[in-house]
Amino acid sequence: MLDPRTAEGSGVSSGRREGPDPPGPKPSGKGEPAVKSVAVVGASGAVGEVMVRLLEERKFPVGSIKFLASERSLGKSVKFRGEAHPIQLLTADAFRGVDIVLSSTPGSISKEFSPLAAKAGAVVVDNSSAFRMDPDVPLVVPEVNPGDVAGHKGIIANPNCSTIQMVVALKPLHDALRIRRVIVSTYQSVSGAGQKGMDELRAQVRAEVEGRPAPRPAKFAHPIAFNCVPQIDDFLPDGYTKEEMKMVHETRKIMGDASILVSPTCVRVPVLYSHSESILVETERPITPAIARDLWAYAPGLKVVDDPSQLAYPMPAPARGEDHVFVGRIRQDLGNPHALLFWCVGDNLRKGAALNAVQIAEELLKLDPVGA
Ligand SMILES: NC(=O)c1ccc[n+]([C@@H]2O[C@H](COP(=O)([O-])OP(=O)(O)OC[C@H]3O[C@@H](n4cnc5c(N)ncnc54)[C@H](OP(=O)(O)O)[C@@H]3O)[C@@H](O)[C@H]2O)c1
Repeated sequence: MLDPRTAEGSGVSSGRREGPDPPGPKPSGKGEPAVKSVAVVGASGAVGEVMVRLLEERKFPVGSIKFLASERSLGKSVKFRGEAHPIQLLTADAFRGVDIVLSSTPGSISKEFSPLAAKAGAVVVDNSSAFRMDPDVPLVVPEVNPGDVAGHKGIIANPNCSTIQMVVALKPLHDALRIRRVIVSTYQSVSGAGQKGMDELRAQVRAEVEGRPAPRPAKFAHPIAFNCVPQIDDFLPDGYTKEEMKMVHETRKIMGDASILVSPTCVRVPVLYSHSESILVETERPITPAIARDLWAYAPGLKVVDDPSQLAYPMPAPARGEDHVFVGRIRQDLGNPHALLFWCVGDNLRKGAALNAVQIAEELLKLDPVGA
């Protein structure tokens, strides 16, 4: 039983965990976690592929597993624990007998199928933006608000990739110093736009290098090779983009504090993997680099890489495939003892998406570690 719709008084503790997290589900000491029937929806996509690898790496207690996608993927297969599984068509019937659905499809598909999966008795961890701001749906980053998992009604939302890495870094500062305002500029990789985003950058770079006319942009509004595009998702009437407003609203929901001001600028850059963010944080109590380093030293899921004398700072290429969020370039704001600047990098396909989703599924296991 991993479902608060049917179980009261789960063993999930709310608030922040202490110390870094070893990978893998953690039984409560009562026994091994019961195996689960898992469905990976969007298994052929950029996030879905990483999700499959993480279920293996973290030894998620999978009893049975199925991989679902659109008719475009029929005939393809996914290798899991040495065995090839054919990708099946996503249909309402596909969720029968499934305990946990890890879903990473476009929002419109999730809107249609996630409620059907929940109705069939599964718990859905959804990567899309379809349900993130639904008051009945917890929006969870396990390093920040793991306790919110227990309030689910069948769907749990995984936040936007840029928001996830930022709140992992902000949470310890907020707990100790109370954040008033965050000014963030993102440098987001093309894998944040899925397989097609990566294909588009590769094709344009190849054409440019070979002196051929570059293919026309399709996924992005402008050519992305050798360029930066200050637009991610559609524009809203006030001049912000939807991606920027996700960072505003989701940060407040995850941190449980509607008073935090977030001023975002989201930019797509010609990097394949990992998002970077330049962040200025303003706090109620005075903040210094030394205070921030102390607070980050024991923060779960976060590593400080900050040694200018050795030219050491976080960068997107080395962050690829890493589970941690990295922070560096930590500096006092010039003239403001209540403000600090830093640089924050995370693998958008792992912590920004698939890893966070699998961690949420691991939190679900703790609701019922022995499957009683
Ligand atoms: N990429 C990131 O860094 C990131 C981070 C956080 C959240 N997300 C969110 O995660 C979701 C997936 O992103 P992605 O980057 O993995 O995209 P992607 O590479 O384009 O993959 C999309 C997946 O959805 C499947 N799909 C599309 N239409 C479908 C349909 N009609 N029926 C069934 N399956 C369908 C695709 O299957 P086919 O191959 O068969 O078409 C594919 O497996 C999106 O909502 C995205 O916003 C992405």
